[in-house]
Amino acid sequence: CGIVGYIGHREAYPIILKGLKRLEYRGYDSAGIALYDGDDIVLCKTKGKVADLEHKIESEISTKGNLGIGHTRWATHGVPNDVNSHPHYSNSGNLVIIHNGIIENYDSLRKELIKRGYTFKSETDTEVLVNLIEDVQKNDNLKLGKAVQIALNQVVGAYAIAVFDKNKPNEIVVAKLGSPLAIGVGDDEYFIASDASPFIEYTKSAIYLEDEEMAVIRRHKGVKIRKIKDDTLVDPYIQELQLNLEQIEKGGYDHFMLKEIHEQPSAIFDTFRGRLLSDKGIIKMSGVEDNMKRFLNADRIIIVACGTSWHAGLVAEYIFEDLARIPVEVEYASEFRYRNPVIYEKDVVIAISQSGETADTLAAIKLAKSKGAFVFGVCNVVGSTIARETDAGAYTHAGPEIGVASTKAFTTQITVLTLIALRLARAKGTISSSDYRLQLLELELIPDKVKKALESDDLVKSIAAIYKDAPNMLYLGRGFNFPVALEGALKLKEISYIHAEGYPAAEMKHGPIALIDENMPIIVIATKKGHYEKVVSNIQEIKSRKGKIIGIVTEGDEQVRALADHVIEVPESLESLSPLLTTIPLQLLSYHIALMLGRNVDQPRNLAKAVTVE
Ligand code: G6P
Repeated sequence: CGIVGYIGHREAYPIILKGLKRLEYRGYDSAGIALYDGDDIVLCKTKGKVADLEHKIESEISTKGNLGIGHTRWATHGVPNDVNSHPHYSNSGNLVIIHNGIIENYDSLRKELIKRGYTFKSETDTEVLVNLIEDVQKNDNLKLGKAVQIALNQVVGAYAIAVFDKNKPNEIVVAKLGSPLAIGVGDDEYFIASDASPFIEYTKSAIYLEDEEMAVIRRHKGVKIRKIKDDTLVDPYIQELQLNLEQIEKGGYDHFMLKEIHEQPSAIFDTFRGRLLSDKGIIKMSGVEDNMKRFLNADRIIIVACGTSWHAGLVAEYIFEDLARIPVEVEYASEFRYRNPVIYEKDVVIAISQSGETADTLAAIKLAKSKGAFVFGVCNVVGSTIARETDAGAYTHAGPEIGVASTKAFTTQITVLTLIALRLARAKGTISSSDYRLQLLELELIPDKVKKALESDDLVKSIAAIYKDAPNMLYLGRGFNFPVALEGALKLKEISYIHAEGYPAAEMKHGPIALIDENMPIIVIATKKGHYEKVVSNIQEIKSRKGKIIGIVTEGDEQVRALADHVIEVPESLESLSPLLTTIPLQLLSYHIALMLGRNVDQPRNLAKAVTVE
């Protein structure tokens, strides 16, 4: 979920509304706003998108006032309907709250409150929390900040909240545990948001609350931060933000996803800029350099991640083992954290996360740290929770990724992981100096080659038009390109809602081959250096069962062209770098199919960009 708030001298409504649109990537099942109009709280909320809310608000409430909060939801407790949407009132109607996270002990708290006469309109854990705050406040006649603090000390779970009291319309109280919360500090005005994007055009100064901190934000008086547990005061640390407005706007493209696909040449370049000095034959990454002993001492690397980042981890497994000869295990963070895994102090754990906020990945990191392992983060969002929780790390520097389907994050993650693998390979002596040089030179050529791969757009679009109505698709690849097949299938599922499966090409004959008939489109990654002859045999097997073959091939390929129904060419590169190229047409294919089917490409149903609940 995304939360946003404002207290200051401007009209709060337009700031909150625009902020919610920027935060919609965090969830868009429902949206709502509560404003203080100078006299009372006015509230409007609805199932659906922020645009639906905007529509409703115009006919329902006055949008006056310079204090307010807003919420865009990814449903956890209770279906996404109007009633379960945020903000939520307390029983008296004095307090109003927005919340991102999950209160795990909400059921027992709710029962307790019902005994004390409270009633509930929604099924949410959030309505329990606001009434708990009200109950504490009433019983002891406390200030709102104190009541929030006492209530939160009874809560188990995760939260980022903002709450205000209509009888004290000069303050907002916020608190954080597990979910992110930033406070933008303007000129006698304050902004609250899950990330800095809602307030970037008003101020570049931000405070990021740490876990178990709360802040009371007072009009004309500033921000007071305390530790929720022991009440100690914390000095606010105000950061200067680097983000700029263009980075979070569409810049002439129809969709963020398309913009982000096309940004990959420059994003990959930005990832290795200043780190890859090919003329000197050097890779410079301080997070790796400073911890070289830990890396070289490790008997294995464990990679933890979710979703697309997990696929980048799988590519990295092939790269690390091939180049640096270090055994690698790749784990779904959600499985790793709960299965009592064996973790040694000598282990290096690499956590990969675009957002740096994924709850399961964060929990896996905490577990690994508690066992004494060294945890290295590969994140895109600067200053994110995972970036701060890890012992060291390397940013991908891809710039903000807003489309829910991850694209440039994936290729830049692979780029960072390749740099790390090469640096370690060099340090361990598992790569010859000529191969090392070649890798560096070839990596430098990748941005231009990605540009070239993007030129297949029209061809991909015409192929999309042929297969857009297929109920199923199969994606096959081997070696470094097996994870690319998984990622290609995930992209298609996410935004077109067509069922798709990724498989190792040779494994196909142990099951999926049963699905193949003349109606089944099969995308086969068959680049020249990747076990080419073996993949060609797999293509023959498909052809004899009349499957429709779309080959992703190296420029100039003839053998697959002769067998396949369609081929899409990508420039030649080293086998280990080929995922950076073969991924491109697969991203474009899912984009075009989703668009032709009328899907919401940037905000596909049921998904969220950052999953801050487990
Ligand atoms: C969500 C997103 C995916 C992403 C995954 C992991 O499911 O929709 O695109 O790959 O989370 O996110 P992270 O931010 O940790 O990479």
